[in-house]
Amino acid sequence: MVANQNIINFIFRLFIISILIFISSSANQRVIDEKASKMPQIPLMDAMGKEAYDDAIGSGKYHFVGSSKCRLCHREFFLGRKKDPHDSAMESLALSGDEKNSHCLMCHSTGHQIPSGYVDMESTPRLSNVQCEGCHGPGNVHIELAKDKNKVKRFEKGGFLAGQDNPERLKKMCTSCHTQRWNKSYHDVDFNKTYNSYKKADPNSRYP
Ligand code: HEC
Ligand code: HEC
Ligand code: HEC
Ligand code: HEC
Repeated sequence: MVANQNIINFIFRLFIISILIFISSSANQRVIDEKASKMPQIPLMDAMGKEAYDDAIGSGKYHFVGSSKCRLCHREFFLGRKKDPHDSAMESLALSGDEKNSHCLMCHSTGHQIPSGYVDMESTPRLSNVQCEGCHGPGNVHIELAKDKNKVKRFEKGGFLAGQDNPERLKKMCTSCHTQRWNKSYHDVDFNKTYNSYKKADPNSRYP
């Protein structure tokens, strides 16, 4: 009797475990496919084109500063973006133990593989996840211009490699990360609508 009970228990556990394995493997099919693909291009390089990217980054003029610096002047955006999935993108990597996988960090962190961009949690924690500069590009020049506001009288935009003065490039940033494989967000929503929702500080305005 006791032996039979043990066998039944064993078979039951085996059944549950195989179901769990099945669920987790099918949920992560895209991760498996991604790992089997070649290393993606740096999103900023892809969006700018290699030549323009090499000129800009090679000049040494641009640096990543981290979103806490943006908070000083854009408090509303800073707080709004905290509710955005980009701001927790590295948590998704932890699900499969890929927080240190360079391949994944290309799209799940800020400026990975770009000088002054994200390296690892020990040396560059302030650039984890996809922050402001993950979309707009390095922010140091913008901040210098903004601080000079009094000199230039009126400051509205500028200094970014993918700023408001270059919407085509900013749109290309989106699709450099949101590739064919990672296009979930564009299945049921219109791209321009999603893009335009980021003009507002609160990303919850995304799905009206
Ligand atoms: C010293 C103040 C200051 C800091 C710091 C600052 N900004 Fe700005 N920013 C401004 C001002 C002023 C404008 C003009 C429009 C406005 O008032 O919002 C602006 C406009 C912008 C724009 C729209 C125009 C464009 O060129 O695309 C973006 C995007 C932007 N900032 C992002 C950022 C990010 C990202 C950071 C952090 C890296 C940052 N800002 C840090 C003052 C600042
Ligand atoms: C550096 C890469 C990168 C860039 C640039 C980027 N995204 Fe994302 N985006 C991500 C990642 C990674 C996630 C998933 C975050 C998570 O849940 O782990 C995401 C999630 C999203 C989501 C929510 C997920 C969903 O399926 O609904 C939307 C909407 C979105 N992005 C829109 C945009 C738009 C619009 C742009 C351009 C303005 C953009 N993204 C630029 C990497 C990027
Ligand atoms: C997912 C990509 C993405 C992220 C992350 C992101 N932005 Fe933006 N941001 C955009 C887009 C797209 C626009 C609209 C650009 C346009 O007008 O064409 C925009 C516009 C802006 C503007 C101008 C708003 C206006 O029209 O007056 C400011 C300021 C700004 N962002 C600041 C920030 C700050 C600060 C952060 C980080 C806390 C941030 N953004 C993070 C995509 C992003
Ligand atoms: C080319 C850019 C890119 C690369 C490389 C990339 N991701 Fe993503 N990932 C995204 C975007 C964009 C989203 C959000 C949109 C979506 O889910 O379609 C996302 C969403 C996710 C999600 C949440 C949605 C889900 O399927 O559960 C997980 C988990 C994830 N990625 C894991 C990974 C891992 C692990 C790697 C490395 C093997 C990786 N990603 C590499 C762009 C990328």
